[in-house]
Amino acid sequence: MDLATFEHLLTPAGQRLLAAVAEEPPDTSDLALGTRLRREHPGELVAAAITQQRLRAKAVAKLGPDAAHLYYTPDALEQATRAPVARHRAEQLRDLGARTVVDLGCGIGADLIAFARAGLTVRGIEIDPLRAAIARGNLSALGIDGQVEAGDALETPISEDEVAFVDPARRDGSGRLTRLDQLTPPWEWIARLLDGRAVAKVMPGIAHDAIPPGVGVEWVSDRGDLVEACLWGAGWERPERRATSLPSAESISSRGVQARLAPPRRFIVEPDDAVIRAGLVAELGERIDGGLLDPKIAYLTCDTPPSGNLGRWFEIVEELPFRAKSLRAALRERNLGTLTIKKRGVDIVPERLIAQLKPTGDIPATLVVTRVAGKGRAFWVRPVR
Ligand SMILES: C[S@@+](CC[C@H](N)C(=O)[O-])C[C@H]1O[C@@H](n2cnc3c(N)ncnc32)[C@H](O)[C@@H]1O
Repeated sequence: MDLATFEHLLTPAGQRLLAAVAEEPPDTSDLALGTRLRREHPGELVAAAITQQRLRAKAVAKLGPDAAHLYYTPDALEQATRAPVARHRAEQLRDLGARTVVDLGCGIGADLIAFARAGLTVRGIEIDPLRAAIARGNLSALGIDGQVEAGDALETPISEDEVAFVDPARRDGSGRLTRLDQLTPPWEWIARLLDGRAVAKVMPGIAHDAIPPGVGVEWVSDRGDLVEACLWGAGWERPERRATSLPSAESISSRGVQARLAPPRRFIVEPDDAVIRAGLVAELGERIDGGLLDPKIAYLTCDTPPSGNLGRWFEIVEELPFRAKSLRAALRERNLGTLTIKKRGVDIVPERLIAQLKPTGDIPATLVVTRVAGKGRAFWVRPVR
């Protein structure tokens, strides 16, 4: 879709076409629908309307009920922040007293919408004129006030009362990269903004030693997926490492806790990936009154029943033999069948181990295979939640 076609889509004729496409049963083939609609409408407009309808359906998982009213390009939807994650950031900014945000590289405006919904005054800057027009259209589709300018963030003056927010793109458009030198706008420029009261969203794989001094980081997971690291500039004076699990927004911060070790207790706890990336497994262990099974492995053990959302609890049913031959016999004796194997710190490939064990029993089972104080051990466990 080019800019002219998008602008056409916003006209009354374009809106009627979009509404007509939305009313079609979802299983209608794009080819049949396109052929039919092209008899009365320009081809590019029909293609754009059908694409928007498909993207709206796809966007619901990320953007919730707003999705049906918004406009996208496939790549910009891919890059957009999930609504609960954007809301979490925006509400923190508001609670910290921010009033106005300039979103430097706003894409189609998912973060911009969340900032405005949290009560902040918003201005978006976007280098791609089509995305800038879409972001403007999206604010207006939701009846939200805000300004969007097509332009280069690097050339944009930022006023004193504006908080700068940057969610940079990966320069080559590819997925989960960890290198900061692949970001655009460039990392050196973002790092300079972070001297003050700026906020930046970066990839969760960011190395701890790449974080500028005084900058705080919040690793955020949403429904179990680790989605981002949010950097809070030195000007906010909250330089801690934090991990937050959405949607509950339960959070844990660095306190310099030394990891304790503990022999297997009633539960094995698998920390949320945000906790692991933030390096806060010891802090979680302290919170649940537990210890690490092994100094190098991110499994905790405790007697505390499941609490909170920063980890998944597995109750140990029984320890089983670690060696494959004896394990196979133990599975047979207990009539254990379909296996889920969770492993950490041991040199096994779950699919290969399952093929070797050939479990034939009727009872589905989960095994945790891991190292405890340096030695391989296997536990039959019951996921608690
Ligand atoms: C990851 S996307 C932002 C997504 C947005 N936060 C959202 O949730 O919808 C990054 C955006 O930055 C834009 N961008 C990259 N370099 C820029 C620059 N120098 N000036 C303005 N925008 C830029 C890209 O075109 C892209 O749309």
